[in-house]
Amino acid sequence: MSDANPSSDERKQPGVQREYRTGQIVVHWEPKLCIHTARCLRGLPQVFDINRLPWIKLEAASAEQIAEVVRRCPTSALSFERLNGGPQEHAPEQTTIQATPDGPLYVRGDIKIVNQDGSTRNLTRAALCRCGHSKNKPFCDGSHWEVDFKTT
Ligand code: SF4
Ligand code: FES
Repeated sequence: MSDANPSSDERKQPGVQREYRTGQIVVHWEPKLCIHTARCLRGLPQVFDINRLPWIKLEAASAEQIAEVVRRCPTSALSFERLNGGPQEHAPEQTTIQATPDGPLYVRGDIKIVNQDGSTRNLTRAALCRCGHSKNKPFCDGSHWEVDFKTT
């Protein structure tokens, strides 16, 4: 992995979901989907800072800026709802599947995950495991780094 490696306790807790809210926007945070790409940290370091608790500080940028950076998250670990009439996230017209080097498949589109137990989940962004070692299938959980998965 070439991206920064978040290390705060808050980001490590599996199964925890959090919500950060202003009058303009709500940001949902689902750590078990995060694979530490650091796109959020690089996109708005004044908002997303793993060396601070809480690590998300929505007051540090506009709702538009935050929504734009949240959409860069490839996994849906971060998602948002606009509360002020601003545009909500919409799936792109064309679904894309991007194969990342030595890593997961990044999917963007109108995605419906159907789990083995029949439960479903609708997403617009997902990182799907293709190394076979994730403990959170069908999602990537970063295990490809541990097994040194190679795609070439
Ligand atoms: S952009 Fe998403 S997957 Fe990447 S570090 Fe931020 S929350 Fe995690
Ligand atoms: S591709 Fe990331 S855990 Fe399999």
